[in-house]
Amino acid sequence: MNENTPLRIGLIGFGCVGQGFYDIVRQQPELNLVVARIAVKTPEKPRPLPAAHFTYHADELLADTTLDVLVEVIDDAAEAFRLVSAALRQGRRVATANKAMLAQHLPELVQLQAQFGGTMLYEAAVCGSIPVVRTLDQYFSHEPLRAVSGIFNGSSNYVLTRMSEEGSDYAAALAEAQLQGFAETDPALDMGAFDPRSKAVILAAHAYGTFLETDAVLNLGIEGISAVDIAYATAQGQKIKVVASLSRLPNGHLTALVTPQLVGPESPLYGVEREFNGVVLDAAFAGKQFLQGRGAGGHPTGSAVLADVLALRRGLRYQYAKQSARPEAQLTQGLELDAYVSHPDAGVLREVLTWLELPAEALRLTEAGGAYATGPVAVQQLWAWRQELRANGVFVARAGEARVAAPVAEAEAAVRA
Ligand SMILES: NC(=O)c1ccc[n+]([C@@H]2O[C@H](COP(=O)([O-])OP(=O)(O)OC[C@H]3O[C@@H](n4cnc5c(N)ncnc54)[C@H](OP(=O)(O)O)[C@@H]3O)[C@@H](O)[C@H]2O)c1
Repeated sequence: MNENTPLRIGLIGFGCVGQGFYDIVRQQPELNLVVARIAVKTPEKPRPLPAAHFTYHADELLADTTLDVLVEVIDDAAEAFRLVSAALRQGRRVATANKAMLAQHLPELVQLQAQFGGTMLYEAAVCGSIPVVRTLDQYFSHEPLRAVSGIFNGSSNYVLTRMSEEGSDYAAALAEAQLQGFAETDPALDMGAFDPRSKAVILAAHAYGTFLETDAVLNLGIEGISAVDIAYATAQGQKIKVVASLSRLPNGHLTALVTPQLVGPESPLYGVEREFNGVVLDAAFAGKQFLQGRGAGGHPTGSAVLADVLALRRGLRYQYAKQSARPEAQLTQGLELDAYVSHPDAGVLREVLTWLELPAEALRLTEAGGAYATGPVAVQQLWAWRQELRANGVFVARAGEARVAAPVAEAEAAVRA
């Protein structure tokens, strides 16, 4: 199949991303792409196209062998998995944007491609328009990466930006983000850092050849953030960003953390504001690179879907080249980080300090009546108390990158000796 062979596309989902993709294809007839059939869910919903364009049974698209490529952009991860895995069992070519599905089922979906000869690409699933999956998979396929980090969620970044620009509190900034269409009605996945965790899991497969269990990656969100925390960061000449960090330690272990982080102007992520995303790649030989762009929205995400469809026409497949590296990089929680912890109630924070094994003297009262503390905290402690931290609205940010925890470092030095 050459560069300009006409392609018949089956589009499953016609919401924000589906319509964005459709519009891009419509504006570029020279690409020789035809969205031949569209599947949606709700018959009674008003649509910008005549009803004859739609079916309400996505399985009809699976059964239609005249469709060359299926584009899956629905908002239901379980149903997306059923549809995409069925398509791959038929050896079909699929583009998907569903990060929640991919993070949960990637090993199985990769295996289905190997078994039945189909192909699945998913550039749109990570950081919208930023071509980071293909960059890691193809360009850096054989270069060791010291670290991959970034702002992978535009909704929480928008809230943080508005809080620091306006000095507004979290609830007001979130309400504004929802009004502007940058945050979902149910903000839990974005604000709780579950969404960027899914993206970090997907990138780990390409950057390090490791299929991480989503639940094994520590994610802390911004639900407990207040204007006091923003003021603290500003006083240090820093900003708070939700940063997903993957890195490979000298001992070969992999670290993965998705938490708020105090970021200074020396970091390219400092200037990534509002709904934008940014990714910093630290490659062993190429050095540092920075990608920035729109992480969501119909056209930006549709543009990544288009790039996948065109790549499918050319026969591109992901290589997962680093998967063959042995031994496989194992995830470690044996890390320590410099933490900033806060809560509007000093009494609650006093107890939190015992959970995190921080000394009571670390506690500082704020004028507003709340309190914060700083000090080194073991990632194991954050991991063990993660549900309580979330349930009690405790805000935790790290200052800088995590390091190997002292007892682990000593044990490994002893083994080497
Ligand atoms: N929005 C973004 O900027 C963005 C960015 C990156 C990735 N993504 C991912 O892209 C996917 C789509 O997101 P979106 O924002 O476009 O969602 P959306 O606006 O909520 O639209 C979802 C679409 O899926 C359809 N749908 C749901 N279940 C279906 C089913 N069983 N069969 C057929 N159609 C079904 C819906 O049909 P009805 O129209 O009948 O309701 C709707 O057209 C999600 O996985 C999301 O995580 C989104």
